[in-house]
Amino acid sequence: AMSFGFHPKAQKQNQISRKNFQPQASYKVAILGAAGGIGQPLALLIKMSPLVSALHLYDIANVKGVTADLSHCNTPSQTLDFTGASELGSCLKGVDVVVIPAGVPRKPGMTRDDLFNINANIVKSLVEAVADNCPDAFIHIISNPVNSTVPIAAEVLKKKGVYDPKKLFGVTTLDVVRANTFVAQKKNLRIIDVDVPVIGGHAGITILPLLSKTKPLVSFTDEEIQELTVRIQNAGTEVVEAKAGAGSATLSMAYAAARFVESSLRAIDGDSDVYECCFVESELTELPFFASRVKLGKKGVEAVISSDLQGLSEYEQKALEALKPELKASIDKGIAFANKQA
Ligand code: NAI
Repeated sequence: AMSFGFHPKAQKQNQISRKNFQPQASYKVAILGAAGGIGQPLALLIKMSPLVSALHLYDIANVKGVTADLSHCNTPSQTLDFTGASELGSCLKGVDVVVIPAGVPRKPGMTRDDLFNINANIVKSLVEAVADNCPDAFIHIISNPVNSTVPIAAEVLKKKGVYDPKKLFGVTTLDVVRANTFVAQKKNLRIIDVDVPVIGGHAGITILPLLSKTKPLVSFTDEEIQELTVRIQNAGTEVVEAKAGAGSATLSMAYAAARFVESSLRAIDGDSDVYECCFVESELTELPFFASRVKLGKKGVEAVISSDLQGLSEYEQKALEALKPELKASIDKGIAFANKQA
């Protein structure tokens, strides 16, 4: 459950219902790419979180206005703006979670991999700064192609000698959010009850919703499985086409990223019942990185949940084998990029 308070009263209630946690939790969150389509609504949602005491907003331009604007909301967190590489270090000092939505989004006709050349460099330089200034922070990578940018981030952190695989996450929460929405609609379920694990990666066929593991227990016809799976895989493209050149998912992404930040902070804060799907270093399959449900704890990934991969349907088993070559190629491409640069 999310715990955003939209009214000071709700925030007080939040504090009361959270009695079993530290009452005055105060974590610092940085957003890199904070003035963008995702960054702005994400900053707003995080500004609502009772767990956050400081919100550090970084971008190469336009972040002063966003910060001034947000700072007038009467929620507890303090908002600070940081512009350009010279202020990146101070943005990152002392933060608990760094969220990275910096980079260019897709336009109609583009795949996520088409963004590689621009976004790979952006992620590389931002993660270098993270390594230098807050190596213990949870790092949430949103910039696409996630299947490659997460391996790039891992290589950068290794070169800096500060790689902690338990704290590096590719954000795939939007795939789960979409799967939950579409399944609830199709099967007339209460939306808050529905939970569909989504595994693999975050592009096209590498996105594999495990509909057979849907909670609550629900049965699908073969046609429904095919239709829902393809819709979940192409949901990003649905938005890209509807926006017709103006970008990709920003509002639903901000919602999903805020949920992942909230989950991370709850885990850091000592909640021992926090599970999210995300793209992490993993031994679940023969691939070095894989998205699956993980248990989050104070130190990051506490456990990768392997049970979701047991008892897959025949459809899911085939789809899992089919996605591996593409996901492996994207991972290898990221690793090669990070290592070709001196
Ligand atoms: P946008 O273009 O609206 O915003 C990107 C922001 O990044 C801009 O404010 C820009 O100034 C900033 N930026 C560029 N270079 C930077 C640098 N070196 N340092 C700091 N900031 C920098 O794009 P939008 O829509 O916010 O998307 C951002 C990224 O998120 C894209 O790569 C997109 O593909 C990805 N995305 C990922 C999703 C996921 O599920 N993981 C879903 C939707 C989008």
